[in-house]
Amino acid sequence: VRSPLPPVPIVQMIEIGQYQAFDTEMQSFFYLFTRYLSERARSQELDWERIASPSDDKIVPYSKLPTADASNLSKLAVLKVNGGLGTSMGMTGAKSALEVKDDMTFLDLTVRQIEHLNTTHRVDVPLILMTSFNTHEDTLRIIKKYANQQLRITTFNQSRYPRIFKETLLPCPRTADDDKKHWFPPGHGDLYNALTHSGVLDQLLSEGKEYLFVSNSDNLGAVVDERILQHMIDSQSEFIMEVTDKTKADIKGGTLIDYEGHIRLLEVAQVPNEHIEDFKSVRKFKIFNTNNLWINLRALKRVMDTEGMELDIIVNPKTTDDGQAVIQLETAAGAAIKHFNNAHGVNVPRSRFLPVKSCSDLLLIKSDIYSLQHGQLVINPQRMFETTPVIKLGDHFKKIQQFQKRFKKIPKIIELDHLTVTGDVYFGRNVTLRGTVIVVANEGQRIDIPDGCVLENRLLSGNLNM
Ligand code: UTP
Repeated sequence: VRSPLPPVPIVQMIEIGQYQAFDTEMQSFFYLFTRYLSERARSQELDWERIASPSDDKIVPYSKLPTADASNLSKLAVLKVNGGLGTSMGMTGAKSALEVKDDMTFLDLTVRQIEHLNTTHRVDVPLILMTSFNTHEDTLRIIKKYANQQLRITTFNQSRYPRIFKETLLPCPRTADDDKKHWFPPGHGDLYNALTHSGVLDQLLSEGKEYLFVSNSDNLGAVVDERILQHMIDSQSEFIMEVTDKTKADIKGGTLIDYEGHIRLLEVAQVPNEHIEDFKSVRKFKIFNTNNLWINLRALKRVMDTEGMELDIIVNPKTTDDGQAVIQLETAAGAAIKHFNNAHGVNVPRSRFLPVKSCSDLLLIKSDIYSLQHGQLVINPQRMFETTPVIKLGDHFKKIQQFQKRFKKIPKIIELDHLTVTGDVYFGRNVTLRGTVIVVANEGQRIDIPDGCVLENRLLSGNLNM
């Protein structure tokens, strides 16, 4: 009796797949690391004197864009970069899994937005989510509930690179499966490698998709805009970056520059120390990158197949739990602009950049200043001023857990201009804030704002139990 051939165990097949993925990932890492070493040896820095503002034709005002033909949407896919943790808000899971409004997470709102787009225009725009080893599980948990809906959702994982000891330049992990803390997702610029290696780029092209709209998963203002898509097609631009006017508070985002006749993204990490103030000023650099990017997929395929995507390296210094200095080599998606033809910026209204970078941003978005329409935030018509209130919550509200503990309920702020809160402060239910409100609890003191309290143009300080 002949015994049947043993089937290939599924586990083994997965392992082979994983091994190949790991191998490709390490090759990409090694390439980036080698570039880092050679650039370091040549101390390659941008020559500040050669940096100029981009010419007017490279920053097109949104108001000049044409009206759109909705049939272009059939060639569009939407991608959210969703690999980051939101560490600045003290989160250990995906920021996009945070409930922001009406019990819905960022991801839920994105799904609502695209479902609405698809039903309104009878198209099939798919949603693609780039996750990282840090955010994959959270993301799957949320999108599971959409499995039977009309919207097609694809996820793919970005790379996992090893952290490097600053002194020795040796990798922190000892083995491929060494602890999570030794690895990092190498920035949203990893998008291009991850799209290609996961096969998602080829899949999109084979489905007839030609354009990709990329944005941060925490940017609730980044909805599909048909006029920008139309402009991209009309101007035969392979890459468009949405930029917006910079205010004094915008010191973090990158900006577009002209460098020896070429358009490029300049990130704060690339700016020599002596020019940081110059970089932050609104005088020289008037706009910043929203990270809403429109990419021609065929052009992306060409770049990946020929020259490859060589993005400026951002060295991110970190300290390990046991106090050792390490570096992470990261890249930014917008830096890809230099590889594409007719690439330029479109200066969009601020409403297309509504990110949640801090708990102060979260308070504003959760409040009655905004309501939701098909997953999109709209300013409450009862708000009498065009601007939204300026909110500054102190360090006691920095972490999301603290924020949730300190607001029993989000105050009503429809008539608020300015709120500053510092120290150990707690807000009760149904609190209303109007005009300018400043609450300061000094060191060792605590202020409790009671349920139902109305504060209008008030300064509260000291040890108050109202
Ligand atoms: P950033 O990390 O650039 O900015 O992420 P942030 O939101 O201010 O992050 P924190 O709070 O300082 O940590 C911008 C977008 O890029 C994604 C994030 O998920 C976010 O949507 N991202 C970031 C990735 O997809 N991969 C990464 O490796 C890093």
